[in-house]
Amino acid sequence: MENNVRPESMARITTSELANAFIEEQVAALREQIGDKKVLLALSGGVDSSVVAALLIKAVGDQLTCVHVNHGLLRKGEPEQVIEVFRNQMNANLVYVDAVDRFLDKLAGIDDPEEKRKIIGEEFIRVFEEEARKLTDVAFLAQGTIYPDILESDGVKAHHNVGGLPEDLKFELCEPVKFLYKDEVRVVGKALGLPDNMVYRQPFPGPGLGVRCTGAITRDRLEAVRESDAILREEFAKAGLEGKVWQYFTAIPDIQSTGIKDGKRYMGWAVVIRAVNTVDAVTASVPELSISLLFKIRDRIIAEVNGVNRVLFDMSEKPVSTIEWE
Ligand code: XMP
Repeated sequence: MENNVRPESMARITTSELANAFIEEQVAALREQIGDKKVLLALSGGVDSSVVAALLIKAVGDQLTCVHVNHGLLRKGEPEQVIEVFRNQMNANLVYVDAVDRFLDKLAGIDDPEEKRKIIGEEFIRVFEEEARKLTDVAFLAQGTIYPDILESDGVKAHHNVGGLPEDLKFELCEPVKFLYKDEVRVVGKALGLPDNMVYRQPFPGPGLGVRCTGAITRDRLEAVRESDAILREEFAKAGLEGKVWQYFTAIPDIQSTGIKDGKRYMGWAVVIRAVNTVDAVTASVPELSISLLFKIRDRIIAEVNGVNRVLFDMSEKPVSTIEWE
């Protein structure tokens, strides 16, 4: 039976010294576990899988192959950053899979949120499976499982594993951060030299922008949600709110409303600004934001994002509203 209980003797990793000791210990343990075999990792670019990648690169170098699947639902600049950090800076074997059309074609016309999640999850496994089959002699599958995932195994983070692979691809698991809490993963990530915007990234759902583009996903709305989210993040960062507000993003509901341009009425999309503070994502409050910041974001979204003619601020708390729109 696999041990899934954090050892009581394990100190909380709060400093770079403790992180360095953890890294040294894990690198030795990974070398021992993996030997001269090959390891495969699904690398989303989120902090957990990025820390696992960096640990494995340190431990076994090119015995590791990372697969980054771009399902088209990532935030602006994310796939590029994964390539830059892991392939260009860390010299990792990185397989980049452009699966954008494949996912968006499968999702076309699907408006039920759970059906969308299911398609995204299943398609991800199929793409990953295809890539795994192209490689030979892989013995281990690395995963960015963290301790809260074990404690709440049916929680929102089920996307951390690629369980669901067929029997013949059931590799031995390698989960070097499975006893760490999120704050500890960040301290380790920092000590491994990962960039701040990767280490301190706010939570991002597995189905990505797909749950922020409500109803059936269309390419125009998806692009608009990606662009407006990038503007919002940029302006929050400029206002010094990065790391101070727990999660913030935009959503585009599947409704149109009237706008006016050159004296003519037309239908356009409404962008919703969402910002919340929470400890555990079970309840969430809405931070007080300066109205001039909101006006700045509004002006930029209207000026820069195609098809958008209205900007709304979601002031709802959880409960009764969830954080995401779907
Ligand atoms: P809700 O919307 O349920 O979100 O209040 C709570 C937290 O979970 C994230 N979330 C998800 N994460 N897959 C994920 O990996 C999902 O399907 C999903 N839905 C919500 C959400 O971003 C928030 O941080």
